[in-house]
Amino acid sequence: MVHSPAPKTWSQRFESALHPAIAVFNASIGFDIQLLEYDLTGSEAHARMLAKTGMITSAEGEALVQGLAQIRTEYRQGQFNPTVEDEDVHFAVEHRLVEILGDVAKKLHTARSRNDQVGTDIRLYLRDQIEQIRTQLRQFQTALVTQAEAHVDTLIPGYTHLQRAQPLSLAHHLLAYFEMIQRDWERLGDVLGRVNISPLGCGALAGTTFPIDRGYTAELLGFDRLYQNSLDGVSDRDFAIEFTCAASLILVHLSRLSEEIILWASEEFGFVTLKDNCSTGSSIMPQKKNPDVPELVRGKTGRVFGHLQGLLVMMKGLPLAYNKDLQEDKEPLFDSVVTVKGCLEAMTILISEGISFRAERLAAAVAADFSNATDVADYLATKGVPFREAYNLVGQVVRTSLAAGKLLKDLSLEEWQALHPAFEADIYGAIAPRQVVAARNSVGGTGFDQVRQALTTARQTIAILGN
Ligand code: ARG
Repeated sequence: MVHSPAPKTWSQRFESALHPAIAVFNASIGFDIQLLEYDLTGSEAHARMLAKTGMITSAEGEALVQGLAQIRTEYRQGQFNPTVEDEDVHFAVEHRLVEILGDVAKKLHTARSRNDQVGTDIRLYLRDQIEQIRTQLRQFQTALVTQAEAHVDTLIPGYTHLQRAQPLSLAHHLLAYFEMIQRDWERLGDVLGRVNISPLGCGALAGTTFPIDRGYTAELLGFDRLYQNSLDGVSDRDFAIEFTCAASLILVHLSRLSEEIILWASEEFGFVTLKDNCSTGSSIMPQKKNPDVPELVRGKTGRVFGHLQGLLVMMKGLPLAYNKDLQEDKEPLFDSVVTVKGCLEAMTILISEGISFRAERLAAAVAADFSNATDVADYLATKGVPFREAYNLVGQVVRTSLAAGKLLKDLSLEEWQALHPAFEADIYGAIAPRQVVAARNSVGGTGFDQVRQALTTARQTIAILGN
């Protein structure tokens, strides 16, 4: 419904209209239209409260609720299209409601300000989004666990400093991300507790002269509790900053995994193949297969860090209570939500159906390096050689083997025994990659028993959907 020029909004104090360019500059309707359904929900609760407390009649309350429902239907059918003259979503609703209902619509704003109204709207919005993102986190965890279950026995080189360190069960590597995402899921649950507080009834800044029932609107809207100080209620955006911080951490995790996948997909590593459904070609080099998905995730991460910084800076100098600066909270918040949801969806698809691990390349990789050197030192230490002494001895062996172009497994028993008499034939079993992994059976280690236990726990964890 494109409606007639907006009714004059400001009081009689104003003699002339806004400069057209300033009207555009001032307007938030271009982006806060995304809050429309939450605005309607908040307004409906407010209308019911006005009727319950006797500030309007129950017939008036019912009319307001019906009018708001009509706007919702119009919006869903693409027929509610406010313009810049409406300024923001709150005025857009009010204007349309007056068109629909006439004078009774003008009672809706009794005992309310756009300041507590917009605070209510963004909390309702964010609460919804957090619930959706937590569901997506669970889906991503499911994809990780499913891949991990298929790769308990697949070995992959483990790195420190991006240098080969010790071999790992691939499942153990994937489950490291599962743990990070679990913290993200918990963190968002924690943030939710501070999002779900009602500012409605704080008024412009000081409360209201009307006998409102804040508990009733909070209950209708599913808020857990009320802001206890009206100034704080209308000017707090901590919850938005906390959310953006939690979103940034999710993206840190997705971005680290992305970086690994990009490396693994390279010719040099060759640990994974990206399937055609998740990779792209080059416009000029016909042989290319590019990892655009993880690259985009890595790239988008910076955007959300920027939004976090932007919100912090926006807040730091604001005197109490509402200032128009706060209108600038929305775009960073909305974009953070869209970005984190998009990245989670893409990475879930990539992990569950867009990647395959190259078993033969991985097996060859772990068999052809010195990542079993620690195990030789551990072997000697088990036989009573002090670990530091054993460590130095193995360092020598690695040096001479490197010079001779050999791996540790290529040394003869005589060569081992020349080095130290404690070596026996079982040294070969001790340094075989599978045994090197199996032996790290300390709690939380990569040993297969530990990994199987971790997988069982992971499956139990993702079955938990609520808080
Ligand atoms: N569009 C405004 C915002 O997003 C709504 C609140 C306006 N309040 C005011 N006192 N001008 O912040």
